[in-house]
Amino acid sequence: MVMGFRLKIFSLLLGALYVAGGALFVVNSAMAENGQTDTRSAQCLDCHAASSNVAVHSIDNTVHRDLAGGGNASCTACHGDSQGHLGAPTSAAPDVSFGPRWPADADTRSASCQSCHEKSDQVFWSGSEHQQENLSCDSCHNLHRQRDLDTTGLESQQVCLNCHQQVRAELRLPSRHPIAEGKTTCTDCHNPHGGLGDADLHQVSLNDNCFSCHQEKRGPFLWEHPPVAEDCSLCHRPHGSVNDRLLIARGPALCQQCHAAAFHPSVPYGSEGLPSGSSNQNLLGKNCLNCHSQPHGSNHPSGARLTR
Ligand code: HEC
Ligand code: HEC
Ligand code: HEC
Ligand code: HEC
Ligand code: HEC
Ligand code: HEC
Ligand code: HEC
Ligand code: HEC
Ligand code: HEC
Ligand code: HEC
Repeated sequence: MVMGFRLKIFSLLLGALYVAGGALFVVNSAMAENGQTDTRSAQCLDCHAASSNVAVHSIDNTVHRDLAGGGNASCTACHGDSQGHLGAPTSAAPDVSFGPRWPADADTRSASCQSCHEKSDQVFWSGSEHQQENLSCDSCHNLHRQRDLDTTGLESQQVCLNCHQQVRAELRLPSRHPIAEGKTTCTDCHNPHGGLGDADLHQVSLNDNCFSCHQEKRGPFLWEHPPVAEDCSLCHRPHGSVNDRLLIARGPALCQQCHAAAFHPSVPYGSEGLPSGSSNQNLLGKNCLNCHSQPHGSNHPSGARLTR
């Protein structure tokens, strides 16, 4: 008891001598003097005091509070034992630092998280586009903050949009998924930690992603339209478009990417395509959809031409 008390006063005195960088720190010899050699129970918290101007202790309000038993041990669970740093706090980095002064490389930082988070969504991290682009877990997550990412979407979306400027622009186009409105979020479709298929979608294929919300487009249809079963993105953009219904092109142009005009006069523009004198039925509507109203397939017995 008495020893403990005296040590504390000694520490305080020493501490007062070493106010630096906003952090109050105590020289390790205080511990040695006390015959205490287990540096693992290191005094991270003695120096990184609640009063410091960097809000380190706010981590106590997060789910990570009780890691490895809590207190100092929780610090080492992410930052490593950090023997060097304990001995020379102003000149040696902790084993794993996320900066600002001694940021470890991206993979080292992520590895400290992966030691506990290697399952669930994070299983795809290694090899993912984000990992290869040198992002690390803390590019998106804020560990010392009481609320990490708002998983309802809008906040995590801002994190994404900081880097993905082009997508940010797409979200404002006239036709769009209601992403900016918060009804669908980036993470409804993407797993930011990686994925098995293209574009880090939760599903293996793009169509399966669309079907997860637009089930009725899965069919089966009596009369299929082959490109629909193949790839929705042959006609649609996922984030936003200047054309209605997220389409990549409007009106006949959309269909004429694949359908030549030969079989029925479907070229509405250009003088050579105009029938002389009488009006051609197929041109009146201009938009193929006026007649072929079932572009995704038809279940009508006579819907072979996707007209009903
Ligand atoms: C003897 C006092 C002292 C002890 C004990 C101490 N630190 Fe520090 N720590 C400091 C000081 C001072 C700084 C600021 C260094 C600088 O920027 O010059 C710092 C900085 C840090 C940083 C930021 C590094 C960066 O890159 O900016 C982390 C993380 C950190 N300490 C973690 C720990 C952990 C984990 C422990 C326990 C294992 C610990 N510290 C123990 C004094 C201490
Ligand atoms: C769950 C992992 C984790 C735990 C536990 C953890 N840290 Fe951190 N620490 C981080 C990450 C990640 C950062 C980078 C900033 C951020 O994300 O908030 C960081 C940043 C820091 C910094 C630098 C802050 C700055 O901006 O200058 C210090 C100092 C620090 N931690 C000390 C500690 C101490 C002391 C403990 C124990 C109370 C601790 N950390 C527990 C992950 C952790
Ligand atoms: C020593 C084990 C351990 C380490 C290291 C660790 N975590 Fe965790 N983490 C947990 C536990 C336990 C939970 C709470 C249970 C759960 O959600 O799995 C958790 C929860 C989380 C959550 C969910 C938070 C919430 O509010 O629901 C996120 C995000 C997270 N950790 C990210 C990280 C990141 C990023 C790192 C590295 C900087 C990290 N963790 C390091 C054990 C760890
Ligand atoms: C590109 C940004 C980004 C990066 C990088 C990232 N995360 Fe996440 N993480 C998120 C978002 C956004 C969520 C919320 C998920 C949701 O809303 O479905 C999340 C959720 C989590 C969760 C909560 C539980 C879960 O699975 O939903 C954990 C744990 C987690 N991340 C750990 C990690 C770890 C560990 C790393 C590094 C290997 C990492 N994250 C890297 C964006 C990121
Ligand atoms: C720190 C910057 C940064 C943040 C934050 C970030 N990304 Fe990325 N992301 C990149 C870079 C760089 C690439 C690779 C180049 C590209 O495709 O733009 C990438 C690629 C992607 C890809 C394409 C993956 C592939 O396999 O083709 C998707 C999808 C993606 N990010 C989604 C997200 C989501 C969702 C979030 C938010 C949870 C997010 N990103 C946050 C930087 C970031
Ligand atoms: C409705 C599902 C959905 C939502 C919501 C969504 N995406 Fe995507 N995203 C996709 C699909 C599908 C692709 C693949 C497009 C392709 O391959 O043609 C993609 C591709 C990407 C790519 C790769 C580059 C590109 O533009 O093709 C990035 C980066 C990306 N998305 C980021 C985001 C971000 C950031 C958000 C949130 C603001 C978001 N996405 C919301 C479905 C979605
Ligand atoms: C997470 C759920 C979700 C996923 C996944 C999803 N959508 Fe949507 N989609 C919506 C919602 C919500 C709306 C808006 C419905 C409304 O306003 O009535 C919508 C609307 C649309 C619209 C109509 C847009 C308009 O301007 O009226 C199209 C086209 C569309 N989605 C195509 C796709 C395609 C293609 C995919 C796959 C790349 C996809 N969706 C994946 C939720 C989703
Ligand atoms: C051959 C081009 C084409 C392909 C491929 C295609 N669509 Fe469409 N889609 C359209 C057209 C054209 C419209 C507009 C229909 C209208 O305005 O009546 C549309 C409208 C939609 C709509 C909004 C109106 C509605 O019918 O609910 C959704 C949702 C949709 N498509 C989802 C999908 C999904 C999911 C896929 C992939 C399984 C897909 N589309 C593939 C051409 C296509
Ligand atoms: C990505 C290419 C592609 C696009 C875009 C496309 N189609 Fe098709 N369409 C096909 C293919 C392939 C077939 C099957 C042709 C066959 O069986 O000979 C087909 C078949 C059809 C058929 C049935 C023809 C028959 O002989 O049974 C109609 C009608 C049709 N498409 C209308 C449309 C309309 C309307 C649009 C625009 C909304 C459109 N298509 C856009 C590729 C496309
Ligand atoms: C005014 C109505 C109308 C318009 C507009 C129209 N079609 Fe048709 N189309 C039909 C009808 C009716 C048939 C069926 C003819 C038959 O069964 O002999 C047909 C047949 C087809 C076929 C199957 C041809 C075949 O050889 O059997 C395709 C492919 C097709 N249309 C594509 C298109 C495309 C692409 C457009 C737009 C550029 C378009 N149609 C515009 C009414 C229309």
